[in-house]
Amino acid sequence: MDRDKELFLMARDALKNSYSPFSKFAVGAALLSESGEIFTGVNVENSTYGATICAERTAFVKAVSEGQRKFTTIAVVSSEGAVLPCGICRQFMFEFGDDLRIITGEDEDHLRVYRITELLPEGFRLEP
Ligand code: THU
Repeated sequence: MDRDKELFLMARDALKNSYSPFSKFAVGAALLSESGEIFTGVNVENSTYGATICAERTAFVKAVSEGQRKFTTIAVVSSEGAVLPCGICRQFMFEFGDDLRIITGEDEDHLRVYRITELLPEGFRLEP
C-alpha cells in the first residue's frame, strides 16, 4: 500500500481515541518523520474550551518530545470526513520546515495533498 494511504488509514484509525465530548468533532492525525517513524494524534478537548489541543499538534508534540525534528507528511481526517489544519496548527507545523506535505480526503482513494507553504504563505519564523 502506498505511504499516503497508510498514513491516512492510521489517522482514521486514531479517531477512536479522540477526546471531543464538547464539539463531537473527532480529528485524527498521523505524522511521518524523515526517519520513517509514524506518530498519531487526536484532538483532546477541555472544559475550558481554550485549552483544547488539535490532533495535528498532538502528533507533533509526541514526535518532537521523542527526539524527532524533521517530517515529511501528516495525514489528517475528521469524523465528518476531510479536514484542513486550523491556523494555529499551520503555524505550529511550519516551525519544523517548509516542505511538509498535508494530506486529507474523504477516503483513502480520494486524497488531496497540500504543502505547508501553500496553506501558510509567508509564515512566521524566528531564526535562532
Ligand atoms: N480540530 C483539530 O483537531 N484539527 C483541525 O484541523 C481542526 C479542528 C479540533 C479542535 C476541536 O477539538 C474540534 O476539532 C472542533 O474545532
